[in-house]
Amino acid sequence: MSARTLAAAVAVLAAGCASEPPAVIPGGGPLCASGTYWTRGDHGDNFMHPGRACIECHTERRRGPVFSVAGTIFNARHEENDCFGNAGDPVSGQKTWVEVVDQTNQPFVIEPNASGNFYTTHTFRYPLRRVRIISPSGHFAQMDNPPSGDCNGCHTREGAEGAPGRVIAPNQGR
Ligand code: HEC
Ligand code: HEC
Repeated sequence: MSARTLAAAVAVLAAGCASEPPAVIPGGGPLCASGTYWTRGDHGDNFMHPGRACIECHTERRRGPVFSVAGTIFNARHEENDCFGNAGDPVSGQKTWVEVVDQTNQPFVIEPNASGNFYTTHTFRYPLRRVRIISPSGHFAQMDNPPSGDCNGCHTREGAEGAPGRVIAPNQGR
């Protein structure tokens, strides 16, 4: 399934349980497939600001945990900030995992929470070698040599520094 077909399928699923169908960017998929938003501003929380650059803000403010890797898994490429992302397979409840491999070659796995946010304070040996987003079905998407662990810094709605938009859950293909 292409990312666009997946986005359409997710939009249909979301429309089935949300009160209003999600707004759509022409050709860009849903703005917020989950229909759920973070509304508590900068209140420190596991679910805070899905889609925004976690490490950049925590560093600038000198507040919040000092994460080595943090970001958000979304349902579609161009969802907006503060939209709750991918909470796992809607049927089995199984999560999509983030696997980080550093210079030790030991895969380190992070489980995202119900907002799609994932984060860790684990000490990695830099530079990171690769990161994979692994769906319950075993499908994965991979990035080699991520230059920073602040995933949402590049994986913005539009995509910064050449990134294709959001980090998304690959085909969950049940
Ligand atoms: C615009 C700034 C900003 C952004 C963006 C941000 N945070 Fe925070 N975060 C904060 C601040 C400020 C605190 C500390 C709040 C406090 O001490 O009361 C905090 C605290 C936290 C905490 C600690 C909560 C607790 O129980 O003490 C977690 C977990 C957290 N952030 C996760 C994240 C994640 C994950 C992201 C990215 C998806 C993120 N934050 C993005 C400002 C931000
Ligand atoms: C400096 C910007 C930057 C940062 C930071 C970054 N990425 Fe990327 N990412 C990119 C670019 C550019 C691409 C497309 C080219 C490529 O694959 O290298 C990409 C591609 C990807 C892909 C494959 C495309 C897809 O979704 O099918 C995944 C998965 C991914 N990144 C995940 C992550 C994760 C997780 C992090 C945080 C650990 C991260 N990225 C940090 C820029 C970035």
